[in-house]
Amino acid sequence: MNSFGQSTFLFGGDYNPEQWPEDTWQEDIDKLKQANINVATINVFSWALLEPRENNFNFEQLDRIIALLVRNRIKIVLATSTAAMPAWLVQNYPSAAHVDVHGIQQKQGKRHNACPNNPDFKRLAKQLVTKLVQRYKDCPELTYWHVSNEYEGYCYCENCAAAFREWLKVKYENLPKLNRAWDSNVWSHTYHAWSEIEPPMLTTDLFDNGKPVLNGAALDYQRFQSDSLLANYRMERDVIKRFDQVHPVTTNLTGSQKALDYFKWAPELDVISWDSYPMPEDTASENALEHDLMRGLKDQPFLLMEQTPNQQNWYPYNALKKPGEMRMLSYQAIAHGANSIEFFQLKQSRSGPEKFHGSVLSHSNSVNTRTFKEVQRLGQEIKKLPISLQAANVQAKVALIFDWESYWGSENAIGPLADFSYVKEVQRFYQMLYGHNLTVDIVPKTADFSKYQLVVAPVLYLLNDQFVANIQKYVKEGGNFLTTYLSGMTDQTDNVYLGGYPGPLRHLLGLHVDERDARSPRQSVRILTPDQTQIGTATGICDLVIPDTAATLAHYSSDVFYEDFATLTRNHFGQGYAYYCGAGLDQAGLSYLLQQINTTAGLPLGAMPAVEITTRATEHERFTFIINTSDQPQFITNPVPTATPLVANGPVTTKLDLKPYDVVILHQMI
Ligand code: GLA
Ligand code: ZN
Repeated sequence: MNSFGQSTFLFGGDYNPEQWPEDTWQEDIDKLKQANINVATINVFSWALLEPRENNFNFEQLDRIIALLVRNRIKIVLATSTAAMPAWLVQNYPSAAHVDVHGIQQKQGKRHNACPNNPDFKRLAKQLVTKLVQRYKDCPELTYWHVSNEYEGYCYCENCAAAFREWLKVKYENLPKLNRAWDSNVWSHTYHAWSEIEPPMLTTDLFDNGKPVLNGAALDYQRFQSDSLLANYRMERDVIKRFDQVHPVTTNLTGSQKALDYFKWAPELDVISWDSYPMPEDTASENALEHDLMRGLKDQPFLLMEQTPNQQNWYPYNALKKPGEMRMLSYQAIAHGANSIEFFQLKQSRSGPEKFHGSVLSHSNSVNTRTFKEVQRLGQEIKKLPISLQAANVQAKVALIFDWESYWGSENAIGPLADFSYVKEVQRFYQMLYGHNLTVDIVPKTADFSKYQLVVAPVLYLLNDQFVANIQKYVKEGGNFLTTYLSGMTDQTDNVYLGGYPGPLRHLLGLHVDERDARSPRQSVRILTPDQTQIGTATGICDLVIPDTAATLAHYSSDVFYEDFATLTRNHFGQGYAYYCGAGLDQAGLSYLLQQINTTAGLPLGAMPAVEITTRATEHERFTFIINTSDQPQFITNPVPTATPLVANGPVTTKLDLKPYDVVILHQMI
């Protein structure tokens, strides 16, 4: 049993029987049981059925759905249905629907579109959740509460504007302080009355590209909306906890999305759950980063709440997962901390926006499809995984900082690159580590770094004094720290630190930067070691790095006028080392950088990027996941030849002959 009372590995997905005639339900369940499904997420979007008119409730159909699942011993993840509003709600309270960034008041329709600060929406959501919890809290198969669905999207209505002003009053107390914090004398933005402050939107202070005039105001609105949606979650969570102290509460998150600062959300969730929908062309390292980010939110295993068994329908090209690929991706999720595998969805809709989205039971309704059989096989294997795996966590010696405020700040900035993407920059440095088979913890900038041999902070744009003090102490005491261009740029309200880049990190890094080039992909620059050997090329941002106390590890080539400036540096600081990467280096260059870092960090660098080796461990047990993430065979040395195979397609000896997408799980007592 895991710490949430979960005694089996959950294997299932979203099930929407309300979309189907009741006399088909039992047949669905019979088939799903053949696929080893043991859990269903239900009631995600049923508010209009549960409350057909205001204050008029009807739980009869949900009672029957729950009875069906209980009868069939299917566990239940029970959603609260507040993610899509019924028509009457918006008709009775038109401002319950959000106002979009263009200033357009939405009406009833679609989903995920309530105004988080609307008192009627909040009151009615609370009432519905209260009834649900009172009615179903003792249901024998209830396993998790699932609040709303994929919180997302900001509102720009009058209600939100008023609530924002109150939020600002608490934060800044008076307008002179706010004006100073926002540095608002730019373009006549000085505020003389609280009522003058509007949410930054396309009709006010956002340009067509979504970038703001006043960075401090935009950043505060992002913080405020993330907090507002979190308050919605907390309101439902508190109602649930009032009546049910037994079942854990979660809401399904969506990875490296931009709108919500998940590190602030994480403490409010009993367990992290998330929905993994990689683009067909995403790399194994991009997927791994997302899982690590979700595990990092609480530094605990998580639930994979949704993935598609074969294809999405909402990307431009919805390539099918190839034979074995869904299984490989599922094990990759487990290797990085997942304690469940769930699909969207169990039975394919025949109408609506998701009728062409993949599903365990497809439109053919057959148990003989390729997808069904792959799900069935995976379910059969997963059943046999020891439950002790659930308590095992990933142990890493490298931390990578992910910071939503830096995400917002760096992408709110106009320049130096129009197509700058914070997540892509994080991926670049995650790939550097992943490509050498290093296990990585993704951490917030407030983390305790002392247990790590290396801390990597890509584009840590927005800083505070506390972080600067912590990271200096970490390096002084012997740590290794790598940071990059666009780090240390701005303070808590996104105003640039003066005195040269990278602001308060200059001393630790032993360098300064006065000028920063920004080059198109067609203007790449060669990067050379001091003895003129080329290590790679750079595009995008190229800082003209001037070492003060730092040593130069690499510099620009004569293709650019600033050939004498440094690109990569190392600064000895106390007992440790602070490294700086000044340019958008390719992976060859980053591999060189990592080897340089490793002369002081001493990490076990591997070299087979297509095969991922990840370990989950408790004090007593170790589970080693060996995953061929490619569609090509791979041949590797078994890293733990004395361990016992739990999952394997072929013989496990000192060598492993891995077929395309092959997975081997090895178990050891320690
Ligand atoms: C999200 C939602 C689901 C469904 C899937 C489809 O994850 O939570 O309701 O729309 O996407 O991919
Ligand atoms: Zn609003």
